[in-house]
Amino acid sequence: MSDEPYFAHPTAVIDTPSQIGVGTKIWHFCHVSAGAELGPGCNLGQNVFIAPNVRLGANVKVQNNVSIYEGVTLEDDVFCGPSCVFTNVASPRSEIVRKGRYEATLVRRGASIGANATIVCGTTIGRYALIAAGAVVVRGVVPDYALMIGVPATQRGWVSRHGHTLPEPNEAGVRRCPESGWRYEEVEPGVMRCLDRDEDQAL
Ligand SMILES: CC(C)(COP(=O)(O)OP(=O)(O)OC[C@H]1O[C@@H](n2cnc3c(N)ncnc32)[C@H](O)[C@@H]1OP(=O)(O)O)[C@@H](O)C(=O)NCCC(=O)NCCS
Repeated sequence: MSDEPYFAHPTAVIDTPSQIGVGTKIWHFCHVSAGAELGPGCNLGQNVFIAPNVRLGANVKVQNNVSIYEGVTLEDDVFCGPSCVFTNVASPRSEIVRKGRYEATLVRRGASIGANATIVCGTTIGRYALIAAGAVVVRGVVPDYALMIGVPATQRGWVSRHGHTLPEPNEAGVRRCPESGWRYEEVEPGVMRCLDRDEDQAL
């Protein structure tokens, strides 16, 4: 029995030094590189690779076959669907070594990335944004609560913190999540806010 505060399947490779939070589960054939920091309560599915110095917050769920490369940061409660792809070099060339000059990608709290989606480096995915399956996010900052679909991904509406597409606003400009009843309002064009819970507050 391991006396570590986390679970790692015997086929997983955990390099040292690395920090892994209490209750985190690391499943078959994963590789966590030296210098990585994983928060508590994370779950790495089968065949997940965490590159050196990558930081994952608390309760991050990474589904099977995802590689999280250097330069990528995932905040608390981020969900990565199976086989989604991160990048860290915008114009890769085999002959030219760009090690140490990686472009950053930040996935903010509570965001979800669908299966097989690709996130081109240099982007920030806003809090509770949802990237559809197979979408390719190519640039810029995805707003909080945005629903992004397609190749290249474009915004096709808003999603609630509970993951539902938000309906059209009522006459007061308020949209309600069908599951939680929480109210959302576009406080200025392109800026969605939840009126019932602060974006940084846990559920
Ligand atoms: C985007 C998503 C959230 C659906 O949202 P929705 O509001 O219920 O959307 P609908 O199914 O009503 O579809 C709305 C439109 O978007 C299109 N669409 C839906 N998902 C799409 C996708 N992933 N890529 C491209 N187009 C998509 C539909 O064809 C439809 O188009 P239309 O208006 O021309 O008919 C969902 O399709 C999705 O991709 N979820 C992620 C699933 C996933 O990867 N899970 C990972 C863990 S298993």
